[in-house]
Amino acid sequence: MEDLDEILAIENSTFSRPWSKDVFVRELQIPISRSLVARIQKDRRKEIAGYVTYWIIAGELEVHKICVREDLRKSGIASRLMTEMMRCSHREGAALCRLEVGRSNEGAKRLYEKYGFEVTDIRPHYYAESGEDAMILCADMKKCLQFIGKE
Ligand SMILES: CC(C)(COP(=O)(O)OP(=O)(O)OC[C@H]1O[C@@H](n2cnc3c(N)ncnc32)[C@H](O)[C@@H]1OP(=O)(O)O)[C@@H](O)C(=O)NCCC(=O)NCCS
Repeated sequence: MEDLDEILAIENSTFSRPWSKDVFVRELQIPISRSLVARIQKDRRKEIAGYVTYWIIAGELEVHKICVREDLRKSGIASRLMTEMMRCSHREGAALCRLEVGRSNEGAKRLYEKYGFEVTDIRPHYYAESGEDAMILCADMKKCLQFIGKE
């Protein structure tokens, strides 16, 4: 809860339809919902660099959102969040990981590809605001963890 103001600033500057504070608060109250935050040390203060929210449901990890502060992208922060999320979810018994990504989101697609995700479905014109297709990606947790083991 104490991270929410900083997270909302990143959220609002990133997404055209950002989650509101209420949505984050509700998310934090859902028993199957998990959130991780990445921090960087800046002078004497720790600043939020990125965050991921996901659900553990029926033996599956379902990623809802991953985001890194714009000026800190391409320095491995999302990869660190993904790795930690995979490790925590595996400990909770998740065997499969599922997520969705916009077809043109090259950064996110590259990130997921690294962890062994494969396209299992396309939802045409899924995003109302852009009309863009959504790609549904899945990964076997064992495969992800093998990749993480090599990292
Ligand atoms: C997608 C996102 C989370 C990636 O975060 P990041 O911290 O920059 O990712 P990493 O630095 O861990 O990079 C992971 C891999 O993707 C690659 N990558 C990252 N951004 C990229 C881009 N824009 N284009 C191509 N490749 C990219 C990196 O080079 C790296 O690959 P490598 O290890 O082979 O070099 C970040 O760009 C972001 O917050 N985007 C806006 C929110 C979003 O679209 N979230 C996903 C849908 S909810």
